Amino acid sequence: MPDPQVLRDLALEIAREVAPELRARAGRTSGIRTKSSHTDLVSATDSWSEERIVTRLNEARPYDEIVSEEGMRVSGTSGVRWLVDPIDGTTNFVYGHPGFSISIGAEVGNEPIAGVVVDPLLDEAFAAARGAGATRNGRPIRVSLQTDLSRALVATGFGYHPDRRRRQAEGLVEILPRVGDIRRMGGAALDLAYVACGRVDAFFERGLATWDVAAGRVLVAEAGGAVVNLSLPRPRHEDDRLVRPLEDLHDLDDDTVVVAAGPGFIGQLTELLIQAGAHEGA
Ligand code: IPD
Repeated sequence: MPDPQVLRDLALEIAREVAPELRARAGRTSGIRTKSSHTDLVSATDSWSEERIVTRLNEARPYDEIVSEEGMRVSGTSGVRWLVDPIDGTTNFVYGHPGFSISIGAEVGNEPIAGVVVDPLLDEAFAAARGAGATRNGRPIRVSLQTDLSRALVATGFGYHPDRRRRQAEGLVEILPRVGDIRRMGGAALDLAYVACGRVDAFFERGLATWDVAAGRVLVAEAGGAVVNLSLPRPRHEDDRLVRPLEDLHDLDDDTVVVAAGPGFIGQLTELLIQAGAHEGA
């Protein structure tokens, strides 16, 4: 097993190299296209960032597998798989709005072992390695101790398809009166980093991709929190449960609801989400 701290430090070094250019280009970017829907943006800088990160990872660790959001793939034989989101929160990036980040996660045999989320605008680097804790700019962080759902600050996000968004808004009609407040910041990787440092009490979102959560789930786990997979109630095997630990990112599909929170709180939140039907419908 490679040393998780070595992988974390490599990811941090690379993300920090890329960050100044993203800060300089934020809000001034050209070459904006759309992907899965007219609201799903991608800029030329997403591709630039991806190229830099994937090239640097591949130079440093030529036998590792790399999967990146905008399509770059490197096959590997070492057992280490990197999951890269070169700009998570591209809409924020395009508008020069805070809330975008570089997210780099590493796993071995589906086990998450290192994760780094770097916010170029606020100059914050969140980093974690299995067994070594989580930090923000080098200082240890912990999830919040919140146990009262009615006071909790809960972050969420919305998908890119109108039907999914309508369904998510309907779920919020049930959820919003039952929690302290809701935040929609626009970048799932930072949402998870914020759970890890207690800036929000919890996060949930349906339909995230592997690269959105690969780094953040290590941050939350190492900061003392839990990340679970609230999947559709359609058991494929007898032992399938509705709420499962988010261990295997291959389990993520368009219907998966990723939920992250402190340990004293995640049960109440998943119950509320199930009552609100956050895992059902479009
Ligand atoms: C998106 C952001 C957003 C979330 C979307 C993601 P992208 O990632 O994380 O907050 O709501 O579901 O796809 O497309 O900006 O890399």
